[in-house]
Amino acid sequence: MFRNSGPSSILHTRLAALPLHTPLVGAAGTCGVLDELGEVSDLRWLGAITTKSITPQPRQGHAPWRVVETRAGMLNAIGLANPGVEAFVQSHAPRIGTLPCHVIGSIAGGSIQEFVAVAVSMEQAGVQALELNVSCPNTSDGCHFGSDSSLLGELVKAVRGSVKCGSLLVKLPPDGDPVRAAAAAVEAGANALTLCNTFPGMQIDPDSRTPTLSRGSGGLSGPGIHPIVVRIVYEVHRQVASHARVPIIGLGGVMDWRDAAELIVAGASAVGMGTAMMVDPSTPQRVAQGLAAWCQRQGVRSISELVGTMQSSTH
Ligand SMILES: Cc1cc2nc3c(=O)[nH]c(=O)nc-3n(C[C@H](O)[C@H](O)[C@H](O)COP(=O)(O)O)c2cc1C
Repeated sequence: MFRNSGPSSILHTRLAALPLHTPLVGAAGTCGVLDELGEVSDLRWLGAITTKSITPQPRQGHAPWRVVETRAGMLNAIGLANPGVEAFVQSHAPRIGTLPCHVIGSIAGGSIQEFVAVAVSMEQAGVQALELNVSCPNTSDGCHFGSDSSLLGELVKAVRGSVKCGSLLVKLPPDGDPVRAAAAAVEAGANALTLCNTFPGMQIDPDSRTPTLSRGSGGLSGPGIHPIVVRIVYEVHRQVASHARVPIIGLGGVMDWRDAAELIVAGASAVGMGTAMMVDPSTPQRVAQGLAAWCQRQGVRSISELVGTMQSSTH
């Protein structure tokens, strides 16, 4: 099933202009600034990794504790800690060409001008796709774009007009109206959608009666959000993406190949993973091998044939 002990060719797919040798994508903020995940995980099993969201200036992020465990996953309030675009271009980007997978440059900012400036620099630095993070629940930066469809349209148009990149992704928040936001992003020129970011949440220590995260609230990721994301992917694919022929990265709570396959059947062309790789860095290999075996059992030549193929319930 596996040639050269790498991923099977049955997993080859596309994300807009980007050919992926597997549909698996390392989620923003969970692979390192660029590829630090590669120290513990074999990046060949991922079609692409996403950078930490990069801002114009370096950011320290919030004070500890900024990551805590919950029964259903983890809550984080990192606060977009990142080295800033200049340090990214100088110290990290030179490794891009040496990696065994593509790189999606994630961008955050407080204004259209900031997003455009970082997008142009990251494109020049060699990332193969760009992802606009308009949905971080842990800072105020950029979130107004995610919650206001007309502002989102203006942002996407401005970035679209400033870069050549054929794979401009927009990463949407799960709250609000993801279908409306997706339609606005696609109308303005987004080539793909990432669905979605973490869900706003909070954990309180009953003894001290204080929140466990220093910032109070944070973003929930991991298994608890998965069924909600499956539905969002299904609805956005059905109502927007399939007509517009815009691919979706389904992202949220994927822990094994079944979770990934569910998102593909719901309408995702690629599948993101974050929390699972922190639990077990061999997750990409396990999920890729499980997906390849699933494709064979389904009798398809390519995983892309299974995108958005949910059947009516027989119960
Ligand atoms: C520690 C941590 C840091 C994150 N940082 C970012 C970030 O910088 N930009 C972003 O768009 N999403 C960020 N995310 C959200 C993930 O990319 C992803 O949307 C989320 O974790 C859901 O996927 P999962 O359930 O597979 O983890 C972060 C998530 C975690 C857990």
